Amino acid sequence: MKNTGYLRLDWARSHMPVSANIRETFLKEKPLKGIRIGMALHVEAKTGVFALLLKEGGAEVHMASCNPLSTDDSVVKSLKDDYGMDVHAKKGETEKEYYEYLYRVIDSEPDVIVDDGGDLVKILHTERKDLLKNIIGGNEETTTGVNRLKVMEKTGELKFPMFDVNDASMKHLFDNRYGTGQSALDGIMNATNILIAGKNVTVVGFGYCGKGIAMRMKGMGARVIVSEVDPIKANEALMEGYSVMPLAESLKISDMAVTATGVKSVIPLESMRNAKDGIILSNAGHFDNEIDILSLEKGSTSVEQVRDYVKRYVMKDGRSIYIISDGRLVNLAAGQGHPVEIMDMSFAIQALTAKYLVEKHKELKPAVYSVPEDVDIHVAELRLRSLGVDIDTPTDEQIKYRNSWLEGT
Ligand code: NAD
Ligand code: ADE
Repeated sequence: MKNTGYLRLDWARSHMPVSANIRETFLKEKPLKGIRIGMALHVEAKTGVFALLLKEGGAEVHMASCNPLSTDDSVVKSLKDDYGMDVHAKKGETEKEYYEYLYRVIDSEPDVIVDDGGDLVKILHTERKDLLKNIIGGNEETTTGVNRLKVMEKTGELKFPMFDVNDASMKHLFDNRYGTGQSALDGIMNATNILIAGKNVTVVGFGYCGKGIAMRMKGMGARVIVSEVDPIKANEALMEGYSVMPLAESLKISDMAVTATGVKSVIPLESMRNAKDGIILSNAGHFDNEIDILSLEKGSTSVEQVRDYVKRYVMKDGRSIYIISDGRLVNLAAGQGHPVEIMDMSFAIQALTAKYLVEKHKELKPAVYSVPEDVDIHVAELRLRSLGVDIDTPTDEQIKYRNSWLEGT
């Protein structure tokens, strides 16, 4: 019997047809030959398949996790034992270990960075400036990491080109929306075993992730309430048929709330103090600071682990607040991360963008770059092909019409 991690990698690989197509080219052409890649991603089966794809493309890969709770230890074991991969990650690593593992990846002196959330880039620009000159560039996977990079670009502090993988259509339209929609519910249900139908659920933030969570919660029969700070997003939520109200109001009547904003303390202690007794709070945003758990802990008379992934905080007035996975992103900390086919597309974008970076880095400046449109389109076409779905091609007359401003009728 093969070990669990090996089987999980195998299962993921066999459901990643877009990556399989790219693998054929990578094995033949070795576009990453001689390139050392330092990665910090959620280390689980799909990510393992991606790391192996980069290796198959000729790269030397060194990997750590971008979150202390998202690692699948069985996959780490298989990557090390069966594939000889250099991986530094374990589920439940302490903050000290988390950084120690990132330092180990950085100590490998990478040429290319593949980051998720921006911590590798931060360390390189603060504590390991000596290595900046070696780096030809990198990719960033998620909204929070891209937000950090854009601040660095604006202040002139970014020292190498970084591709905004999140911004690719084949990434955020599917990963953030359908991926988080399905996997956040998977994590919440796995953690709680609670019925969603008939519950009042607040979704905090109606961006790409929030839209996916709201859509799937509604599909499971929840009455969804959206809380937002952006009036345009609030209007979108209303037109989707959700209630919209300030967080402090919605928590008073909600059975659950899920945050997906990428912003700190969007559920502050004050709102928790007035929340419905027994409310279950979780977070799907990148960092664990969206729910102010530190203040909650200080304001509680007791904290108790009541299920594998759930803690109960009892407040001074006797009210209980349940928190899933310490406010770490619920789909990975209490679930299995995004569905395999979703990560197939996100990692296909990553792999082709890494190839593009290696080919074009001499033409790039220290800046945040969009993924080239042909990469996005190529991944979209490969995905359709893998599903056996054909689409139409515009006629020459239609192309001419689209490119003209004189023809109206
Ligand atoms: P987004 O920018 O599309 O949406 C964020 C939304 O939050 C915006 O509409 C913004 O107006 C809203 N917001 C900001 N502050 C708020 C507040 N105080 N109250 C209510 N709403 C507020 O971002 P996104 O792509 O949806 O990503 C959200 C977070 O999820 C990021 O941290 C991102 O990195 C992370 N993410 C997680 C996963 C996952 O697997 N769990 C996947 C993709 C992205
Ligand atoms: N699995 C691996 N990386 C992931 C990510 N960024 N989001 C969700 N699931 C993942």
